[in-house]
Parts: sequence; C-alpha cells; structure tokens
Amino acid sequence: MQMKWFIVEISGVCNARCPFCCTGAKTHQSSGFMEPSLFEAIIAKISKDYAYLGGIPVYIYNWGEPFLHPNYVELMHILAKYPNIYCMTSTNAGYVPELDEISAKMIRRVRLSMSGFSQESYDHIHKLPFDKVVRNIEYLVETFDKYDAKCDDFYIAFFEYPFTHPGYEDEVHKAREFTERLGLGLSVEKPGINDLRSYLDFYLGRMSEDRREFYNKYLNLDYAAYAKKAKSMRSRLKKSGSLKPPVVKAFDAANNCLTGHRVSINQRGELLPCCFVPYDDPQLVLGNFVELSADQVEKKLQRKVSICRECMEVNTVSLAISGK
Ligand SMILES: C[S@@+](CC[C@H](N)C(=O)[O-])C[C@H]1O[C@@H](n2cnc3c(N)ncnc32)[C@H](O)[C@@H]1O
Ligand code: SF4
Ligand code: SF4
Repeated sequence: MQMKWFIVEISGVCNARCPFCCTGAKTHQSSGFMEPSLFEAIIAKISKDYAYLGGIPVYIYNWGEPFLHPNYVELMHILAKYPNIYCMTSTNAGYVPELDEISAKMIRRVRLSMSGFSQESYDHIHKLPFDKVVRNIEYLVETFDKYDAKCDDFYIAFFEYPFTHPGYEDEVHKAREFTERLGLGLSVEKPGINDLRSYLDFYLGRMSEDRREFYNKYLNLDYAAYAKKAKSMRSRLKKSGSLKPPVVKAFDAANNCLTGHRVSINQRGELLPCCFVPYDDPQLVLGNFVELSADQVEKKLQRKVSICRECMEVNTVSLAISGK
C-alpha cells in the first residue's frame, strides 16, 4: 500500500468544548504540544522517505486546535524549508496567532469548523465567543490578502444540528452571506461521532442511556434501529454460507480499512493505527515514528490492533445497512 497522507498532531489541546469530540468532551487526556525540534525531525523524515510521492500533504491537526501551539509561527518557518510538503489545517478560529508573511503563506488548505452562526448555537457545541470567532476569520482573510498567500482551499465547514432556537433556520444563509462577502467556500455538513471510542461505545451498546439519547438527538442517529439490524446481521455473518452479495461487499470494504493510506502521528511523535483513535491510550501506540523505517511504518500499519476488530464489525454492519 502506498502512503498518501500524513497527519502530524501539533497540539493535544483545545479551547472549545464540542460534546461529540473526545477532546471537547474531555473523554481522553489532553496532553500538550509537539516540541518544534520533534516537528522538524518528523517533517524532515517525511520529506526524505516519501519524496517519491512528489507533493506530500501533511495535516497538522487531529484531536487538537493547531493555532493554540505557542510556537505556531516557528513551526511554519520549519515547514517552509521543505518545498515538497503541503500543509493543511482545520481550526475552530477561537484563537488565531499573529501571522507573519512566511507563516501566512505556508497553509494550502484552511477548514474553519463552525457549529452555527450565532452565540446560541455556539453555546451548544463549541462554547466559544462567536463574535471573536468571526473577527478571527476576518483577520485570517485580511492577513492572507495582505501577504498575497495562495491558499487554494479556504472554507467554512458549517455543521447542521437539529437546533430549535428562534432564527436557527436562517443561520446557514447568514453563513453563506459571510462566506460570499469574504470570498470563502462553504461546506454544509452533518456532524457525526468522530472518535473511535465513542463510536464503538455508541454502536456496541456500551454508552450510558443519557449520553446515547444526547447523541441520538443531536446527531440524528437511531441506536435502536441499528441494534436491531446489527443483531440480525451478526447471526447472518456467523453462517457465512448464507451471506448475500451486498453483505459480502460491505464485509470486504470494512476489512480493507479506509484509513490505510494515512499515517497518523500524535503530538509525542508516536505512530497510531489511524486518525480515528484517540491519542491517550499507550496500548494503541505502534512505535516512535522518527525511529522507524518507511517499511516498518507500512508493516506496523498493516498489523491490526485489537480495537480494529470491533471497528470492522461496526463498519461492516453500517456499510451493509446503508447499502454502500
Ligand atoms: C477534532 S477536529 C481538530 C481540529 C480543529 N480543532 C477543528 O475543530 O477544526 C478535526 C476535524 O473534525 C471535524 N469535526 C469536528 N466535530 C465533528 C463531528 N461531530 N462530526 C464530524 N466531524 C467533526 C472538524 O471539522 C475538524 O476538521
Ligand atoms: S472538534 Fe476541534 S474545536 Fe471541537 S473540541 Fe474537538 S478539537 Fe476542539
Ligand atoms: S480498522 Fe483499525 S485502523 Fe482502520 S479505522 Fe478502524 S481502528 Fe482505525
């Protein structure tokens, strides 16, 4: 398998409280920032070992808020030394550091994650001051313009929730007007369960009823319907002779882990099985990325860890139910 993407978590810390994210919900241990010297060692290794890829995309986030890194500008100056690396970021824009010309020009994609377009919506999810988020987005646009930064892909990811407060239905239009005024893209998205532990807890019935209700309500998930179908699927899977083609297809798709072409590295420089797993579990760590050869990285990513079995089970059922 050819590695195509690199995820290098520069910040294990976040200033927001999104309840469907393991960092925001504080269901895993938040643990500091990546040291600039470690960042440089990782970037130098990626740039050299994977040079055959040509341009190499590096995502500087996974479970934290990258702009909070106290040496953010220094990290961008490090990246500027490696012309075959493309840097992508995603931010809640609750805090944006002052950028100089080099740091403004380093980012090729900025995804601005928004939980609505009012303080009321922000009070439910990010729990950040909305007016400050707006000002910070405007600052980013002005700074990119000032330095003529060529960010190919700069857009707002507007998450749609089933909120009922007055005026909520107009918020997506307000977000559209805002993006049009600033010349940004807009992607209206459905939020989901984005960390593996909560995903498995939800679908394998290990989540408390209160928490499950909260997920059902805000993410429009139907645990009862899933559990019923999963039960019948499991009994069909046991009798493998009776598997029907869509189920076999789903089983193959789930066993071919879709995250297999990504290399995920946490803020301590440790290789993880994928970007879906939280970073605080020592049992999931596959080794120190800088000390591994490219072949060892590939081999380690093929060795499935115990959590993968459950992940594949849920994915198989989900894929079969959705008919993909
Ligand atoms: C955990 S965040 C870390 C980066 C940054 N703090 C942010 O929120 O953009 C990584 C990605 O997850 C996405 N995300 C956050 N909550 C989500 C949800 N409930 N469902 C799907 N994606 C989500 C964000 O848009 C972001 O691109
Ligand atoms: S989704 Fe991003 S902004 Fe929200 S808590 Fe998680 S890391 Fe922070
Ligand atoms: S199968 Fe394993 S590596 Fe693949 S997404 Fe699931 S937990 Fe991650």
